[in-house]
Amino acid sequence: MIGFFDSGAGGLSVVREAIRLLPDERYIYYSDNAHCPYGEKSREYVTERARAITRHLRERGCGIVTVACNTATAAAISSLRAEFDMPFVGMEPAVKPAAALTRSGVVGVLATAGTLRAEKYHDTRDRWSGDIKIVEHVGEGFVRLVESGTTEGPEAEETVRLSLQPLLDAGADTIVLGCTHYPFLLPLMKKIAGEDVRFIDPAPAAAKQLLKLMEEKGLIRHDGFSMELEASGDDTTLRRLYETIANN
Ligand code: DGL
Repeated sequence: MIGFFDSGAGGLSVVREAIRLLPDERYIYYSDNAHCPYGEKSREYVTERARAITRHLRERGCGIVTVACNTATAAAISSLRAEFDMPFVGMEPAVKPAAALTRSGVVGVLATAGTLRAEKYHDTRDRWSGDIKIVEHVGEGFVRLVESGTTEGPEAEETVRLSLQPLLDAGADTIVLGCTHYPFLLPLMKKIAGEDVRFIDPAPAAAKQLLKLMEEKGLIRHDGFSMELEASGDDTTLRRLYETIANN
């Protein structure tokens, strides 16, 4: 089985892409929403959660795990790789493609506080930014909006505007979505930013990496699609959001 986890339902933005490439596999998705948001927690705390969830997914029969969360990837993926003898796919903020695409020379990165302060993110940014100016902002309140199922309407629009506007004001024409919850707010972001601004969601790249690893490790089964949704807290949003991705 293919395991996925995130602090909440955001990782479904990655699941959506994975199902496109691997439509005939068995999946388990674990939303750790009782401990959400990860972005405001310490690295140690997020690593402990990531280890506990990985143990659980392995006991449930997963042969590969996608850490469908930028914050948990930045905090914990090296510890997971050291501790567990199984393949992992992580999320990488798409600074490299963004730096290649920008015409204004300014790239915006929206991510959680945990991701933006992580060494792993700093390494990626410093490696690929070159002459490009990178401006960063926490998507304040974005995770809460998605977890409460509020992805449209005036409250959501105002919340999104407050974090997006500083990047637009700094001249960013290409914006990296560095948190897996944020793609669910993309229609609002596009409405606020207008047509000249491009958003980059790293989910398709993560799904490609999952496919590649599954091929390499001989893990593809083609034994029929199934999805089990698990949550450490209330699972209403997870199920509702899954219905929307499954029907699109
Ligand atoms: N979805 C997560 C990420 O990609 C974490 C959001 C949070 O819990 O703060 O960073």
